[in-house]
Amino acid sequence: MIQTAAPFERIRVRRFASAEAAARALAGCIVRELAGDPRLVLGLPTGRTPVPLYRALVALHRRGRADFSRASTFNLDEFVGLAPSDARSYGAFMQQHLFAHVNLRPDRIHLLNGRARDLEGECRRYERAIAAAGGIDLQILGVGENGHIGFNEPAAALVARTHVTRLTTATRRANADLFGGRLRAVPRDALSMGMATILHARRIVLLATGRAKAHAVAGMVDGPLTPRLPASLLQLHRHVEVWVDRAAAAGLR
Ligand code: GLP
Repeated sequence: MIQTAAPFERIRVRRFASAEAAARALAGCIVRELAGDPRLVLGLPTGRTPVPLYRALVALHRRGRADFSRASTFNLDEFVGLAPSDARSYGAFMQQHLFAHVNLRPDRIHLLNGRARDLEGECRRYERAIAAAGGIDLQILGVGENGHIGFNEPAAALVARTHVTRLTTATRRANADLFGGRLRAVPRDALSMGMATILHARRIVLLATGRAKAHAVAGMVDGPLTPRLPASLLQLHRHVEVWVDRAAAAGLR
């Protein structure tokens, strides 16, 4: 008998009534994964989108429902020129929103150092650290309005592994809040996990909320694979989900 091909599977989209509901559900999902595997290796994003997620995780931890004592984390990206201790760095952002409030062991928190003297060496060190941790189990992502993931910006070609990258003006503008609203103060370069680093995670959940993300979400779910929309490469992964609120789902078929 001729087997019919398996039905085409689109990226799984989970829709929520609000950004807050999506964040709470994702916090619950992370806590369940942690309960199943206390040594969970998490990949984490920065930005406005994950703030309610981190708030929900901190609340669950305070209620005794989230134990991070054996977990590890790897952040996606960092600005070149900023040490993790710099108040404007993504490292400081993570400290403020999550790390200072949960029981992660400092030696299991992994950040890219944007002040490293040898930036290429820093990227290689990061890849080795991810491999030594056994790879990323659950990678949480946000997405830029232009479809960037981490700091993998739209381009003619993408870089596979952790690398130094030039930021687009649009992305620098989107990050200006961290720099007192001054575009000129936003670094021009950044360090970022590459698309292969990200796609090697065992499971990926991309969180997108708000109308400004609708175009990127529609492109990544229903559009072609293109480096012009780096998030579209997530279609190559078997265990990826996009969690959206109503506004971010507005452009979906
Ligand atoms: C930044 C980060 C990304 C993040 C994106 C969206 O540039 N490098 O990792 O996902 O922008 O940020 P926001 O959630 O604030 O829209």
